[in-house]
Amino acid sequence: MILPVLRYPDPRLKRVSGPVTEITPLIRSLADDMAETMYARDGIGLAAPQVGVPLRLVVMDISGPEVRGDLMVLINPVLTPLGPEKESDEGCLSVPDFRAQVCRPSRVLVEALNLEGEVRRFEAEGTLAVCAQHEYDHLEGTLFIDRVSRLKRALYDRRIRKKEKK
Ligand code: NI
Repeated sequence: MILPVLRYPDPRLKRVSGPVTEITPLIRSLADDMAETMYARDGIGLAAPQVGVPLRLVVMDISGPEVRGDLMVLINPVLTPLGPEKESDEGCLSVPDFRAQVCRPSRVLVEALNLEGEVRRFEAEGTLAVCAQHEYDHLEGTLFIDRVSRLKRALYDRRIRKKEKK
């Protein structure tokens, strides 16, 4: 089932999400729905708070919606930065019509549970590292626009306010 994705400035996107305490059938079906939603919206990552569920659950597939070859479900992820900072282009399904350069560590160690409750541990770099950190931010109530320059942020806020008035 495709779920509605919350959009900035929805205050629910600013909440800090809580841990998944048990991998129940509900959690599995939420992960399924999130993956379907991510593919349908041409995304490479989606975090549960973006669909209004304040839980530490993320889906990612950097192979993209056409290939769908590398779906990852991260439950209660923990990230450890490894590499030097690097700037790259980001966008977000919750921040439509906006892209910006964001600076983040270029390599990270990712530790998370999968849907089988097994601990997965891997080093990510490139797009996967960017995506993992972007999605992790959502769990902390942070959006990538919180990491761009104040000027760019102000311009986007103005655009949003104009749209809301219409
Ligand atoms: Ni996002």
